[in-house]
This record gives sequence, C-alpha cells and structure tokens, in this order.
Amino acid sequence: MRKKLLLGNWKMNKTRPEAKEFAKGCGEMVEYAVSHGIDVGVAPTFVCLCPVLKHAPKELIVAAQNVNEHDHGAYTGEISIPMLKEIGIGWVILGHSERREYNGETSEACNLKIKALLANDMVPVYCCGESLGTFEEGKTKPFVEEQIRVGLADLKPEEAEKVVIAYEPIWAIGTGKSATKEIAEETIAHIRGVLASMFGAPVAEKIRILYGGSVKPGNIAEYMSMPDIDGALVGGASLELDSYKGLIEGLVG
Ligand code: PGA
Repeated sequence: MRKKLLLGNWKMNKTRPEAKEFAKGCGEMVEYAVSHGIDVGVAPTFVCLCPVLKHAPKELIVAAQNVNEHDHGAYTGEISIPMLKEIGIGWVILGHSERREYNGETSEACNLKIKALLANDMVPVYCCGESLGTFEEGKTKPFVEEQIRVGLADLKPEEAEKVVIAYEPIWAIGTGKSATKEIAEETIAHIRGVLASMFGAPVAEKIRILYGGSVKPGNIAEYMSMPDIDGALVGGASLELDSYKGLIEGLVG
C-alpha cells in the first residue's frame, strides 16, 4: 500500500514571519494527517526552510524547491545537498515546469540532481507535465514518458522506489483549470507503466505519483478516488492554513 502524500509548493511566496506563522499554526492538522497514515509537507523558499523546521511539528516534511548537484564550489547563487542536509532537509522538488521554463532546468540536469540526492539518502520529488499545445495535439503520453525516462535514467530499482513523481500538466498550474480526474489518472497510470518497464512492476507499484495543477480542498478527494493517484502537489491552495487543512481533510476522505 502506497502512503498518501500532500506536498505544498510555496513557490516564491511568504516572508520568514509568514512562514513561521504557518509552521506554528499547523500542529493539529499535521497530527490529524499523521494519525490517518498520511504524509504531509511543504516546500518553502530557501530562506524560510529554517524557520519552518524550527516551528513546525517534526512530522511535517520540509522540502527545498531546488538544489545543485555539486557538493560545493564556484556556483554563484546555488545551494548544495550538504548545506540542505546540515539544516535537516531530506526532500527536494526538481523539474517543476516553472524551473524548466524560467531557469532552463532540463530532464538531464534533473537526472544528475536525482542521483546526487539518492546518494545522500534524500527524497527527490520529480515533476513532469506537458504544455497545452502538447495536450491538444494528443502527445501527452510520449512527452511525459521522455521526461521520466531521461530524469530517472540509470537508477537502480532500489533507488527508483524512493523517488516521488508529480504529474503536473502545465495548462492546469495556477490557472484554476484542473485536469479531470480521468485525464490525471490516465497519464499517471501511463507513467506507472513506464516505471514498470524501467524498474519492474513491483518497484513501479511502490513509487508514489502525485497529481498537481489547481488542486483545491473542493476537488482533492476526486483525484484521490483514482487507483494510481497517491496524493497531490499543491501550489496556491497550500499557502493558507485554512485551505491546507481543507486539503488534508479531503485527502483523509
Ligand atoms: P497550483 O500549483 O496548485 O497553484 O496550480 C501547483 C504546482 O505548481 O505545483
């Protein structure tokens, strides 16, 4: 049985006092989620990682939104895995469509980062998803398959099972236009098939695959009713405590 997972992607939102307020206020809802066997977390900006780690219950997963694959060196503006590890971060989001679009992050670059994270016993959350044009041309499956095959290339099966995948159609991110649960399930089931062909069916059955893109308290339960969807990566609706609580309630069902 795959454990359900809710991960809030805060993107470039919240000052430290705002992040601290969220962290201090989420205790009961995190406890509620954990008591129902659900993993919950947030991905704050780099400057807000420490305040959230300090004030949130230790059960809240705290993820970074990016990392560099090198341990140290002349990489201005970058943050390394040892730096994240030292402050107690164990999870990192990679390959988000916004980073692919604005920062030129490729699936090949994600592959290097994923390997470096796994070598450090950290959990990569690898995002994939197609543009509206690709969706309308009916090419979603081959497009996403390529992102998965390149991003997870050369992993051993025992490494691959530790990765979390997030399928986020770009046309659904921040647009209020979420994919139907059937569309999300169809692509996610295809991703699981690709994972089975790469790492074997038993490993593919263990890998958690999230849906993301305009997930709200009012629609999260629909996605969770689908067999291959194991949770959600949520942007806008993860920012406020009330709405985050609504997401957890929807996930618990
Ligand atoms: P959204 O963002 O929930 O605001 O659509 C999702 C994401 O980008 O992870």
